[in-house]
Amino acid sequence: MGETRQNPWTILEILRWTTGHFQEKGVAEPRTSAEVLLAHTLGISRLDLYLRHDQPLTPEELARFKAFILRRRAGEPVAYITGHREFWSLDFKVTPAVLIPRPETETLVSSVLEVLKSENGKRKTENGIDWALEVGVGSGAIIITLARELPEMRWLGVDISGPALAVARENAARHEIAGRIHFLRGNLLAPLQPGPRFQLLVANLPYVPRPVWEELPKDIKDFEPQEALLGGVDGLDLIKPLVQAAPGVLSPGGWLALEVADGQAPKVAALMAETGAYEQIEKIPDYLGIERVIRARRRGDY
Ligand SMILES: C[S@@+](CC[C@H](N)C(=O)[O-])C[C@H]1O[C@@H](n2cnc3c(N)ncnc32)[C@H](O)[C@@H]1O
Repeated sequence: MGETRQNPWTILEILRWTTGHFQEKGVAEPRTSAEVLLAHTLGISRLDLYLRHDQPLTPEELARFKAFILRRRAGEPVAYITGHREFWSLDFKVTPAVLIPRPETETLVSSVLEVLKSENGKRKTENGIDWALEVGVGSGAIIITLARELPEMRWLGVDISGPALAVARENAARHEIAGRIHFLRGNLLAPLQPGPRFQLLVANLPYVPRPVWEELPKDIKDFEPQEALLGGVDGLDLIKPLVQAAPGVLSPGGWLALEVADGQAPKVAALMAETGAYEQIEKIPDYLGIERVIRARRRGDY
């Protein structure tokens, strides 16, 4: 974009130039990055970019877009630049304090809905209210999506990060669900009163093993919060204690659903079996066929 131009850039020209530039610089998803950032700059949809392909950019728009190009070129994820990410067709605010919600996490949501929707109205409730818990809420993508899909339930969301909880609270308010979710700060189940109360415990905890984390692309390793990703040497530093402690807070027949890394599912299933507290232990594949979710039920006789 260095050369002096007589005419202003049109949308299509700048899109082509930026895509080529990102390709040259090794930026991941060059075309999508260019489209999302240009649409964000102009405050229009990606489809509109093509409907208005010959619209010229004003000098202010060009300056804003150039600044975004530089940030993306340095590896910053598009979602942190725009401040938004879509999950389950809902728009979530994201900041560098939270993990950017991933499409494979929709498998965790659908695996929970599969069992809880079919039990609707049949669950044993505590004081007439069904309670559910998410540990490690981050942006709130999982808990807010589930709370919208299961409007009869009340929700508790825990995270160790204060800044992440602030983002989750804001997203809950934006999705008009704040009245049914209570957020608490703390380590795993520590902020809760003990006692079997929850019909569901869902968690997408940090599970990346350290050797894998060391090799992660710069876009992730240098920009997303380490405490949202790193799960110790084998990735199970947090999942293991949660599997062991969850029966203490789940109602008899309550569900535990966990997202895990590629290859971790058999180990986590074995951890669950060792406790003797779970039944119906199932490994559920994501859209790529990777065993991404482990779902199990607290035994009634445990
Ligand atoms: C992988 S992110 C998941 C965020 C969000 N639920 C999602 O799926 O997009 C894990 C989250 O767990 C939180 N976390 C890490 N260690 C924790 C702990 N010991 N207790 C509670 N939350 C923790 C992190 O702050 C982060 O927000």
